[in-house]
Amino acid sequence: MHPSLFSKITVGGKDLKNRLTMAPLYLGYAGEGGTVSELLLEHYRLMAKSGVAMVVVENATMDYHTGSGSNRTLRADTDENLKGLANLAETIKAQGTLACLQINHAGRFAMADPPLAPSAVQTFGRVPRALTIEEMRNICRKFAEAALRVKEAGFDMVELHGGTGYLLSSFVSPRTNKRDDEYGGSLENRQRFPLEVVNEVCSLVGNFPVGYRFLADEWLPDGLKLVESVQYAKSLAASGVAYISVMGGTYESFFLPDVLRSSRKEGYMVHLAGAVKKEVEIPVIAAGRIATGAFAQRVLTEGKADLIGLARVLWADPEWPAKVREGRENEIIHCHPDCDETCTKLVTKSKAAFCVRWPHEKLQEWKDKMV
Ligand SMILES: Cc1cc2nc3c(=O)[nH]c(=O)nc-3n(C[C@H](O)[C@H](O)[C@H](O)COP(=O)(O)O)c2cc1C
Repeated sequence: MHPSLFSKITVGGKDLKNRLTMAPLYLGYAGEGGTVSELLLEHYRLMAKSGVAMVVVENATMDYHTGSGSNRTLRADTDENLKGLANLAETIKAQGTLACLQINHAGRFAMADPPLAPSAVQTFGRVPRALTIEEMRNICRKFAEAALRVKEAGFDMVELHGGTGYLLSSFVSPRTNKRDDEYGGSLENRQRFPLEVVNEVCSLVGNFPVGYRFLADEWLPDGLKLVESVQYAKSLAASGVAYISVMGGTYESFFLPDVLRSSRKEGYMVHLAGAVKKEVEIPVIAAGRIATGAFAQRVLTEGKADLIGLARVLWADPEWPAKVREGRENEIIHCHPDCDETCTKLVTKSKAAFCVRWPHEKLQEWKDKMV
């Protein structure tokens, strides 16, 4: 079934056995303080065993003190976590799956008080402090050091989180970047800092693929839009990133009624990936309720993306790839918006997430583990 979906592809010099990847999904499974817990290992073992070609592990912070989103956000900023991260990479690779880790600075959404951002633009009642150039240099270096740690831990790739309104994307956005120095104003200036991060990361890690999670549209009236973001995508490709993984929205738009409505639809972010793909030669990943094999196959054959990113879709049913491949699609347990975004609500309350669609036994097993 679906030959394109199960065809090989090379990304950043690494061979992927098919076009399916797990898109990063933070579920609050790391230990307190961002350690690699048994629960996290078990979760990623299952995700890797699913048959996807590559698992992109959820965002890990590159600076706990200024850039972590929560107390259960993985830490990639300290050698104390190196052993745990190595264990995580090994757990994924033992299933014959490539392992990638996403690193992030949460910017204005970080726990830090005040949070740091390009400019002091109020967000959910908090006013971040605008970064100084010296602090930006420091963040650049820490991104590169974290990426090197990811390489040393044995992952096959690292992904920079340029989505969700976190620090890198907040520099590109005309809404959150109001700087009047060489890092603000024109798109050329707004993309300068994230491109500096990409360059510093690439030069420190050397021959090691660096992917990029990409914010294509903020879905806010005064936010970043495709017309500019596709230009930024071209700059990223020219800077040597291995792939671009496309998403839309930030915490400020995810819960707006119109966005909630449109993000219920199958493939709600595929058009964004398609727009980026038209502009770049490197592989593009599309995500967002890619619920069926037929739909995923069409995304590839219509040239909207080179790879499929499954996040909640795979978590709800880790047998999705096997069921699709074997023509057992009617058996798929679908992530369904009628659950009222239970997983998102749980993680925003700093709780470990479960999926209400899981079969009763699995749910019970999970609940037993939590007590
Ligand atoms: C609870 C939750 C956590 C997420 N965590 C991350 C993350 O750590 N990094 C990231 O780039 N995207 C993250 N995402 C976005 C997903 O990667 C994906 O783009 C989105 O959920 C759509 O794909 P899906 O419909 O298969 O879930 C998260 C989404 C959800 C719902």
